[in-house]
Amino acid sequence: MTPLKSIYHWLDVRLGLGELVEKHLTGYLLPRNINAWYSLGSVLLVIFGIQIATGILLLIYYVPDAEKAFKSVTYIMNDVPFGWFIRLCHAVGSNMMVAVLLLHMLSVLFMGSHKSPREMNWLTGFILFNLILGISLTGYLLPWSQLSFWATTVATNSVGAIPIVGEYLMTFLRGGILVGPPTLGRFFAVHVTFLPLAIGAFIVAHLFLLERIGVSTPPFGLGETKNNWQGDSFRYQSHPGGIPFFPNYLLQDMTSILIYLAIFLTVVFFSPYIFFPPTAFVPADPFKTPAHIKPEWYFLANYQTLKVFPNELLGLMVQGAAMTILALLPFLDRSKERNPLKRPLFLSCFAGGIILYIAMAIWGHYS
Ligand code: HEM
Repeated sequence: MTPLKSIYHWLDVRLGLGELVEKHLTGYLLPRNINAWYSLGSVLLVIFGIQIATGILLLIYYVPDAEKAFKSVTYIMNDVPFGWFIRLCHAVGSNMMVAVLLLHMLSVLFMGSHKSPREMNWLTGFILFNLILGISLTGYLLPWSQLSFWATTVATNSVGAIPIVGEYLMTFLRGGILVGPPTLGRFFAVHVTFLPLAIGAFIVAHLFLLERIGVSTPPFGLGETKNNWQGDSFRYQSHPGGIPFFPNYLLQDMTSILIYLAIFLTVVFFSPYIFFPPTAFVPADPFKTPAHIKPEWYFLANYQTLKVFPNELLGLMVQGAAMTILALLPFLDRSKERNPLKRPLFLSCFAGGIILYIAMAIWGHYS
């Protein structure tokens, strides 16, 4: 036996490595008609990993103090070796993560994978969606630029429109009546501890559910497109005759991850500043409101909705209702059919929703 084989044998006897590989990799079968959209979840895992790694490196030089934050970020960009690269990866990565997250959600919806018995996969995903928006919002303030300061002022202002608790909630979020040094302290704490831990925990829950219930069969190509689960007893959805995760599907996962990395690094190297308007390069000044202050692209539709309605409360209620419907979708959309072409009402709402979201975001950008 070669030394490598004897080490493997020693570990196999103690850990049952062979059995683990068989159960989770070579013997873990996926539906025969699985498609590339199913690899977006793995792309998200890679992005989250990159965000954690670059975030830890940024922490070495970043100073969470209103007097020093902007200077420390400028120092990272100009003086720390490869600091610019780490910082741009982190900032561009946060935008890319929201984009991939939206694609993952849309593809899951399109293929009806959120339907029974995967309501909990959807709900844990929906919570992840909110946590990731939260981590992006809190991170935006940290460079303490004019953009960070005023975008956070606008974002936290709308909370004040909630009746009874609004004012209290806004002061709690800001750590005072206005955005100021205490806001930076609490956003920093939440951004680097609570939110990454919460996201990590929900990713574990999301993957546990995936493993426990099994991957859904895409509703294309094979004859059966309906959920044939009865709902009165637990059932693991296996895929006899399917393709193994390793090596077959891992190759698809790796291809999607490499395509993602190619796009991501192209933006980082060639046009990172698409995510940085000029106000991102000026230190925060509470006495000077910039002329055009806009939230990040993924909040533009929400921002425009608030402006369209005669009062902010109405705008908030419409958004609250839309988010509640989205969260409860698997409980509202109860038909067993999963093929989008056989769900005309769903298809119209799906296309209408995407068009409305994009139109509101474009309107918000140019308004
Ligand atoms: C950090 C965020 C997320 C990560 C890392 C993640 C990861 C994954 C992974 C690895 C899978 C299995 C492969 C696949 O179908 O893509 C998956 C499936 C799934 N995800 Fe996510 N996800 C995230 C966010 C979300 C969100 C925001 C939603 C929806 C609101 C969602 C809903 C689902 C559902 C319903 C499935 C089951 C799909 C099936 O079995 O066919 N996920 N996710």
